[in-house]
Amino acid sequence: MIGSKDSYALVTGASSGIGYELARLFARDGKNVVVVARSKDKLEELKGNLEKEHGAKVRVLVKDLCDPKAPQETFSELEREGINVDVLVNNAGFAVYGMFSGTNWQKEAEMIQVNITALTQLTKLFLKKMLENKAGKIMNISSVGGFIPAPWYSMYHATKAYVLSFSEALANEVKGTGVSVTCFCPGVTKTLFYERANAEKSRALKSRVLSTDAATAARLGYKALAKGKVTAIAGLPMSLAVFFSRFAPRSLVTRMARATVAPT
Ligand SMILES: NC(=O)c1ccc[n+]([C@@H]2O[C@H](COP(=O)([O-])OP(=O)(O)OC[C@H]3O[C@@H](n4cnc5c(N)ncnc54)[C@H](OP(=O)(O)O)[C@@H]3O)[C@@H](O)[C@H]2O)c1
Repeated sequence: MIGSKDSYALVTGASSGIGYELARLFARDGKNVVVVARSKDKLEELKGNLEKEHGAKVRVLVKDLCDPKAPQETFSELEREGINVDVLVNNAGFAVYGMFSGTNWQKEAEMIQVNITALTQLTKLFLKKMLENKAGKIMNISSVGGFIPAPWYSMYHATKAYVLSFSEALANEVKGTGVSVTCFCPGVTKTLFYERANAEKSRALKSRVLSTDAATAARLGYKALAKGKVTAIAGLPMSLAVFFSRFAPRSLVTRMARATVAPT
């Protein structure tokens, strides 16, 4: 089990996709979980399943992380209830797909709030307690996109570059404290992500080599978290793509990213 038996793993974005599968992995290993997202019904159903199948304690927190008050409310509610979180997984996130000149600013501002601001504030709030307890694990979900600029996803990849840079620096800051910070970078994963981003026509989704499923991605992230790895990339093809991107000219990398993610 990751962390201690009496404490909880908090997973944001646990109502579907990678977050849902991560919550299942924690519960399977006997860990209690706090599941956070907007979809109350899906979270309640997940709670029912995890309690029945694994006997885990599950606390549902219905929060819209677009709301700037949500991170503090989440922290304070759990404090009041005496729920100690020793594993924090900042997984909630979404993308806006399209040429920047034509995309919707309101949606993009919300994306910054969820992918960057809420993630950072939750990290700050829970890290402090973990440091006091000299124990804890944080995993922030970035993306392979965090390494690579991509037209059609210009802002989304930039939010994930923030998550990557922030998490790697923080991992160094907390070294030797008993707390670890892991940045997990999934590649193309078949979840509701593409439908929500209106990116179903993206070429990347058509590739069998590049794409994986939520359960596989979650397992890789879970392993990396357990080991306290600083950065983990999901799968060999994606690791190779990132390796290549570090040595190739950035203009070439951007062109190749465009060819991969543009609509078919
Ligand atoms: N799928 C991929 O190819 C891929 C690749 C790289 C990285 N990622 C990253 O992996 C993470 C999980 O994505 P996924 O693929 O599993 O997509 P998903 O199935 O769409 O899941 C996204 C989760 O985030 C939650 N969420 C979205 N907006 C929220 C908000 N305003 N407040 C609270 N929760 C919110 C959603 O719950 P509600 O709608 O119920 O609120 C849902 O549980 C994201 O950070 C994503 O950027 C995905």
